[in-house]
This record gives sequence, C-alpha cells and structure tokens, in this order.
Amino acid sequence: MENINNLTNIHPIPRIGEPAPKFKAITTQGEINFPADYKGKWVILFSHPADFTPVCTSEFMTFASMQDEFKELNTELVGLSVDGLYSHIAWLRTIKEKIEFKGMKDVEVKFPLIEDISMEVANLYGMLQPGESNTKAVRAVFFIDPEGMIRTIIYYPLSLGRNFDEIKRVLIGLQAADAFKVALPADWRPGDDVIVPTAGTCDQAKDRVDIPEEGVTCYDWFFCTKKLEKEKVEEALWKKK
Ligand code: BEZ
Repeated sequence: MENINNLTNIHPIPRIGEPAPKFKAITTQGEINFPADYKGKWVILFSHPADFTPVCTSEFMTFASMQDEFKELNTELVGLSVDGLYSHIAWLRTIKEKIEFKGMKDVEVKFPLIEDISMEVANLYGMLQPGESNTKAVRAVFFIDPEGMIRTIIYYPLSLGRNFDEIKRVLIGLQAADAFKVALPADWRPGDDVIVPTAGTCDQAKDRVDIPEEGVTCYDWFFCTKKLEKEKVEEALWKKK
C-alpha cells in the first residue's frame, strides 16, 4: 500500500462553495469524467478506508439499499477507496453473495466505486488525513450540486460508520434551501418551520418586527420563521428531475 508521504503534490482540501475538483478515473462501472458526467444531478462522492473491512461493508450495504431513494432526489452515488479495481470487484461480489446485515442481504452495489491506488483522487479531495491514517482514506462525504459546486462536506473517522439519516437529511435540506430560498434551523426536516433570510436594511429589520409579512413570525429582527408545508417540499424535491 502506498503511503501518503510518497505523494509529491499534497493538494489543499477543497472547501464548501468551491467547484468540485476535476478528475478522470476507472470505476467498477467503467470510466468517469468527474464532475462533468454528472452535470444536472446532485452527487454524493464518498470515500471509505478499505475494501474487505467490516464498517465499510455495513456502509456499502446501506448506501446500496438507499440508492433508489437518492435517485428519487436526482442524486447519484460515487464511492472511492485507495484500493484497486480487482479488489473492489471481489469485495462487492462477496457482499452480494455472503453478507447479511440488519435485514439487508443479496445486496448489489450498482453505483461506481473508484479505484485510486495512486491516491491522486483521495489527495485532491483531502480524503487522506495522516493524523488518522497514512495509508487509508477517512470516511469523507462530499455533497456536490448540479452545477458541480461543493455544498457540504462531512468527515468521519475510520472507527465510526456514517449516519445515513443525516446524509439524506443534509441532501434534502440543501435542495429545499435552494428551492425555497430559505435557511433551515437545527434538526430541520420537511414540515418544520424555516428561517426567513435576514433583513437587508435597518428599516426592513424594524418593519419586519413591527409589521411582519403574512405568515411570518419574528421573535426579533434577526430571527424570523415561516411555515413550509411538508407537501410543498415533497412536490418541489421529489417531482423535480
Ligand atoms: C472498517 O471499515 O471496519 C475499518 C476500516 C479501516 C480501519 C478500521 C475499520
């Protein structure tokens, strides 16, 4: 296994609001040109430390079982580890043929899994974090929008499997915030109140508290909420393709 210290060019970690770094790679589903091949779709690009390891196996089975739910949200999954293609293929076959976990069995992973023996893609995306491991990628999750911009990044360590409720909640939240031009409070889920953007001027801020817009509740000039029905969110996100 190559060591991160052998990489000649350490890339700065890409950040939220920046374009997703471009790369071409071999995957279990053929070659991809990223992010160009995914224009017009959301992508969850995620890394896992190693094939044939238990936490990663449980995560792959969960991602694969949820693939249709992500597709309904116009979202594709792309996985990566610093293993080779034949290791990926053998591991995914073993998962399908032998592993049963939390009621999931006979699970076929149909989304692409990138081979990255050179660690180039993992390096490009800051998935190699030497404090955690010199030879494996951490569990990174990049949410990339239909324009190829990075919108959220979550990192997990090697020892902790991801929370898939949260991954789906983040995706829905990002899409809802875009569709309705609102911000979303702590723990927001469809049907909960949303945050009305902050007033632009002092007068608007004063008006907002004295005579709030219909349907808007202002607790102070900086904190106004309004209802956003679950059905409206569902209509905007699940019917839009
Ligand atoms: C796992 O997926 O089980 C795992 C991978 C690398 C280090 C520790 C655990």
